[in-house]
Amino acid sequence: MTGELFSEERSAEVVAESFAGTPDPRLRQVLTSLVRHLHDFVKDVELTEAEWETAIGFLTDTGQTCTPTRQEFILLSDVLGLSMLVETINHRTGGTATESTVLGPFHMVVSPARELGDDIALDGKGTPCLVSGQVTGPDGDPLPGATVDVWQTNEDGFYDVQQPDVQPAGNLRGIFTTDDEGRFWFRSVVPRYYPIPDDGPVGQLLAATGRHPNRPAHLHFIAQAEGYRSVTTHVFVADSPYLDSDAVFGVKDSLVREVPVVDDPARAAQVGLANPFRTLTFDLSLLPV
Ligand SMILES: [Fe+2]
Repeated sequence: MTGELFSEERSAEVVAESFAGTPDPRLRQVLTSLVRHLHDFVKDVELTEAEWETAIGFLTDTGQTCTPTRQEFILLSDVLGLSMLVETINHRTGGTATESTVLGPFHMVVSPARELGDDIALDGKGTPCLVSGQVTGPDGDPLPGATVDVWQTNEDGFYDVQQPDVQPAGNLRGIFTTDDEGRFWFRSVVPRYYPIPDDGPVGQLLAATGRHPNRPAHLHFIAQAEGYRSVTTHVFVADSPYLDSDAVFGVKDSLVREVPVVDDPARAAQVGLANPFRTLTFDLSLLPV
């Protein structure tokens, strides 16, 4: 016999060694590190057998809560800050481009293509808001033909995929293509803060730890342009509650915008919104590939 037998002291090394023959070097690296950290964690807290069983039950429930329109594992990753950490590591901008944030669990369907100026509030409910911006490279050069994929909640704090019997499909989502100056604009409503779904295992975790499930009001964006790195991000509404305690840690200072009221009947008529309305401007700067 050549292999070292399992022992409490050398457990991580013994299990890591079992992966030594993994042909893919990256897979070998990831599994070896995972085992080291997992074993360190169990030793650190001296995990009991009952706690191990609870953990297995929790992860099983998490998987069984997933459906085509609900991703409980992404929620779990989100509330542990894991999604934000992976996102942040993989999209370092050095301060020269729009910062990214989490994709979130509600980008479940392909949004419909829209024309500039379209109203994406298909049910006509909520506080009207004109959303506009420009997609540019890092030096401010406009990017015509960029696509801007947008999704947001209604004024009650729900996405269309959460309320298929209440909201029309495609409500408050759309994919826009920027004009010759890289600009986009559309009509919508002001989104509201909302709780992440908290009627499953992740909600139980939050309740057990005294955490609230809310996210501050935001619009999701994915901006893409040929030859540039796409950015997945949000713009946050500056007067929303929970900006300083987002349940998924998604807020970055550079992504918060005021959403001022415009009380100007002529301007409202021009843009096709009821007066008064609010305006949100969010420019996106992309880095070259
Ligand atoms: Fe969201």
